[in-house]
Parts: sequence; structure tokens; C-alpha cells
Amino acid sequence: MLILRTPELPSSEITPRELFEGRRRFLRDAGLVLAAGAFGGLASAPATAANARLAPLAASPLSTNEEKTSYKSVTTYNNYYEFGTDKGDPVDNAGRLVTRPWTVRVEGLVGKPRTFDIDELMKLAPLEERIYRMRCVEGWSMVIPWVGFPLSALLKQVEPLGSAKFVEFVTLYDPKVMSRLPVLDWPYTEGLRLDEALHPLTLLTLGLYGEVLPNQNGAPVRLVVPWKYGFKSAKSIVTIRLTEKQPATAWNKAARHEYGFYSNVNPQVDHPRWSQATERRIGEFRKRPTLMFNGYAEQVASLYQGMDLRANF
Ligand code: MTE
Repeated sequence: MLILRTPELPSSEITPRELFEGRRRFLRDAGLVLAAGAFGGLASAPATAANARLAPLAASPLSTNEEKTSYKSVTTYNNYYEFGTDKGDPVDNAGRLVTRPWTVRVEGLVGKPRTFDIDELMKLAPLEERIYRMRCVEGWSMVIPWVGFPLSALLKQVEPLGSAKFVEFVTLYDPKVMSRLPVLDWPYTEGLRLDEALHPLTLLTLGLYGEVLPNQNGAPVRLVVPWKYGFKSAKSIVTIRLTEKQPATAWNKAARHEYGFYSNVNPQVDHPRWSQATERRIGEFRKRPTLMFNGYAEQVASLYQGMDLRANF
């Protein structure tokens, strides 16, 4: 496994919470009385900084009221193979990822192809907090308060053509900061059927826990599709392409008998090497039964009516 060194981050770009709070504590403990202006320079990190708060956030009726997984687990137990294959690698290595400037190109079978600047994207639609259950194909799950807006709001802007049937998501691959090992066929790509992409649950995600996305969680913009295994939720997206044919996906190319295109959470269809009937919620010891479509059957089962979900796994 390639171990990437994490260089010092320019403090102008990023003020980690501990550092920021540490500085604040230091100033307080030193008995300094600060005029708002004097403190302002320290407190008002640029909107691009890690931990920058996102507001206002509308609460979504699509949120679960289950207990949220801790911020610490959500941001330190990750899969982001471009930064290493161990769960703790992304938090150690993804600091190297530069997320500004950043653009997302939306192209292919659309009437109005367009390149969105990330800051423009952040204002494209009202930001919502969506607390979703997330189920990883490996058998663990979390409950994460994401921040974003429905992907459909973005897709509507580019006017999909009648011939568009699928959406491909291409993520950043920058060998200067990411793994050079051929773990997967980089760049990491994913895909959805157009109706899945337009479903109100499908979230274009810009933050979590009310803050901009930490790099290890896929900054500055990722997908979240809560009724599918976590690997469908592509991180650090640079291109969204509407296509007529089903796009290839990174995990399907790597092991096509193990990772199908649909990847819907389904406790009745096992992974060839392990059962998918139960899962362990991070922070708990007991196993709990995995729910059909990860508990979102009421909202999404109709998308798959008449389909053999064993063949289309
Ligand atoms: N996106 C990219 N670009 N690279 C990855 O390795 N891993 C996927 C998905 N998106 C991955 C990715 C997998 S396997 C999972 S389970 C989720 O991201 C994990 O998201 P999280 O670390 O925010 O929980």
C-alpha cells in the first residue's frame, strides 16, 4: 500500500476545527479581550475552508430520525481508495486534495451543456440537511447528516435530451496527490439510470454535519444515493455525463461478478463472498437486519418494478 505524506496545509485555506478552537482557547486563556474586528481575521475563515458552516439549511422530511453516527466516525472511517485502502488512510492523506478552484462539467446528451464553478454550484438550489442511512457493501452502516440538494435540480438546468437514459459520474484523478497504485481503473467512475438520478432522494452533496465536506468524505462535491451500497456515492466529482448506454463503473470493471450496476441494498441477494442479510452500525456491537433498499423501499421500489433484482444486482 502506498503511503502518502500529508504536507502542511496552508492555513489561509484550511483551519481545522481543533486548531481553530485551540487558538480561540489560547486567546481566551491568555485573557485577551478582542475587539470584533481583531478576532474577525481569525474567526472568519474563507467560505472554502474545511469546517466552514453551511447555512441556512432546510430540514428535509426525507431525513431519518435514527441516532446519527458520530462526526468523528463519519470523518475518520472512510473508503476513498485514491488516498489509500485502509479506513484511516483518507483522513491522513486527503489533506493534499485541493478543492478550490473546482469545476463540474455537465455534458453528453443534454440541450445545454455547462461547466459549473463549485461556488456557483453551492448556490444553485436551497441547501437541505438530509439525514440518511448509509449501508456499505462490506457490511457496516452509518447514519449521516448530509448537506446538499437533489441532483435533479442540477440536471434540469442542462435540459436532458430524450435520448439520455443514464448518467455517468467521473471523479478527480490527480496522480500528484492520489495513489498511483492500480487498485481500481482510475478515475473512479459510477453511474445511475436517469430515473434514479432524478429521484428526489438522490443528493448532490456539498457538506455534512452542517459544514462543507471534509476532503476524506469527497470534497468539494459528491453523490449520495441512500438506497444503494455506499460505493455508488462517487466522491470529488468533476464530470457528469448523460449517455444513452449504461456507463462502465469502477467496481464493476474490477470485479463484475461482485459489484453490479444497480447495487441496490438487498438483504436477499448476497455478495458472492459474504451475506448481506445483516449489518453492523458503526458505534454498535450488535448486528441488525439489513432492510430492503436500505429502508427506502417505499420511495424507490417502483423504479424496479418487474425487474429481476437477482440478475440486476
Ligand atoms: N469515491 C471515490 N472517488 N473513491 C472511492 O474509493 N469509495 C466509495 C464511495 N465513493 C470511493 C468513492 C465507497 S466504497 C464508499 S462505502 C463511500 O464512498 C464511502 O463514503 P464515506 O467515506 O463518506 O463514508
